[in-house]
Amino acid sequence: MIKIKDLRFIILSIIILSGFTTFYYINLYGTINGIKSDLLKPNNKLEIVEKEINKKVVFENCKNETDESNFYNYYQFNDKESMINYFLTYQNYYYIEEYKDKQFSNSTKYNLSKYNYPVLTKLYSNFTPTIKEIDNEIDLIKKKYDNGEIVEPKINSITSSTTYRSIRAPKKKTNKKITFENDETYHSLELKKFRSRVWSDFYLNYWKDKYFLLFTLENGLSFRSPRLCLPLDTSKPLLTTPYLFLHIPKCGGTTMYTHFSKHFKVGTLQQWAHPNPAEYKKVQDSKNFIIGHFEMGIHLILNEKEQKTYNYMTMLRDPVERVISNYFYHKHSPGDPQHILARDNVIENWIIISPRGNNEITRVLSGITIKEEPVPSNDTFNMALYHLRSMKFVGITEKYSESLALLKFYTGLENPNVADKLKNSKFRPYGITPAIIEKIKKRNWMDILLYEEALKMFERQINIVGRDNFEKQLTKNYRQ
Ligand SMILES: *[C@@H]1O[C@H](CO)[C@@H](O)[C@H](O)[C@H]1NC(C)=O
Ligand SMILES: *[C@@H]1O[C@H](CO)[C@@H](O)[C@H](O)[C@H]1NC(C)=O
Ligand SMILES: *[C@@H]1O[C@H](CO)[C@@H](O)[C@H](O)[C@H]1NC(C)=O
Ligand SMILES: *[C@@H]1O[C@H](CO)[C@@H](O)[C@H](O)[C@H]1NC(C)=O
Repeated sequence: MIKIKDLRFIILSIIILSGFTTFYYINLYGTINGIKSDLLKPNNKLEIVEKEINKKVVFENCKNETDESNFYNYYQFNDKESMINYFLTYQNYYYIEEYKDKQFSNSTKYNLSKYNYPVLTKLYSNFTPTIKEIDNEIDLIKKKYDNGEIVEPKINSITSSTTYRSIRAPKKKTNKKITFENDETYHSLELKKFRSRVWSDFYLNYWKDKYFLLFTLENGLSFRSPRLCLPLDTSKPLLTTPYLFLHIPKCGGTTMYTHFSKHFKVGTLQQWAHPNPAEYKKVQDSKNFIIGHFEMGIHLILNEKEQKTYNYMTMLRDPVERVISNYFYHKHSPGDPQHILARDNVIENWIIISPRGNNEITRVLSGITIKEEPVPSNDTFNMALYHLRSMKFVGITEKYSESLALLKFYTGLENPNVADKLKNSKFRPYGITPAIIEKIKKRNWMDILLYEEALKMFERQINIVGRDNFEKQLTKNYRQ
């Protein structure tokens, strides 16, 4: 007779093997549902269990050459590269880090004991419409074009949903042919599809990770997370291209583009908004470096080859400084789509009415826009945190030189020209009182938690390449 325990093992094996299919989804949901109350309780068993496992992992020895093959196979890694790739994400290691409980942001400025990490409340994506429904809508539009029913299509050079996110709207006059490919409704539906996909992937992966751990323990299976001796070998860049650099406004992304376009010379791209279908090819042809105000999920449009090698990166800045910089940038940039809102409102009001002043880091990292949620929900925060921890590299604007030094090891970026160093914004802030700062902090509590996480990730990145190597590179970058 098959015991419940065995049955669950079989189901889990199917889940793990079958990947992102509907079948998998139903099984995962069904299985999780049974232990739902347990998983959602604060201080639940799972958390304790995870800590126990990871304690064991911490004390485990580093890689021993004699059982290397065993080692790669533990998680069904095909080769050393794919294992290192896994190893590089903080997502898989955050429980075992020695700096987990340390604060890295300025503790005079941010009293983090006032903040609680929100728990994830939902088990699965309830994004509407579903991808299937969106595809049906797209089909309907296409049919209308095919049948010659559309005479005057709505045409826009960028889709309206990304306008607020783009720093500069493209100035080009649109003089496009009347085709399905240029239809604005079709473009915004494509964007919705990205969000729906990112949203459902998140819930799927989040619970899969949690449940995998719980299951292995309950069934007495030993859990061994792959561990390597640090620092890693950085004789060649740790990360493969293309690099997908999520540009959060006012965090130094434009300077970053200067560095990478000089480094690679070809195959680089700066996108001011998420690409519409007419721009997909341009993205696919940029095989080295793509930076921009695009949405999480842009990897879904890459060619098959790059789908296997892309790596996400981003750069975060102190949230209070970022909000202030963003406000003054808009306030003093006539012609900017966000100018009037900042010009006509004091900063205290602006942080309430402009999404840019209210947890914008969370919004960009989660991939959920104001269209879905005017203020990010607690689940959206968790999505942003999950995405951040899954990134292969995170830079810190306040540590710009240090970030560039680290990028040498991660991407090969060598000795960026000093003349291209991060420029201070020409829009100097004024009239910022301590009371205003308190208001900004209160409004941007999610971004503050993400910033703290990014600082932890930054420390880990230094450990990965080795502190000595890092210091040497930092000095080298300045010796020119
Ligand atoms: C690996 O383990 C074997 C057997 O325990 C030991 O003899 C050997 O010295 C170890 N190698 C390294 C590199 O630690
Ligand atoms: C920490 O924050 C306080 C209050 O904002 C500020 O006065 C101080 O200069 C900051 N310290 C550092 C090292 O930035
Ligand atoms: C930080 O916040 C906690 C909880 O609200 C409080 O008890 C503590 O005194 C605060 N610390 C400082 C330095 O303000
Ligand atoms: C979201 O999380 C915060 C912090 O943990 C908590 O105070 C708040 O009640 C949560 N909001 C909802 C709607 O659950």
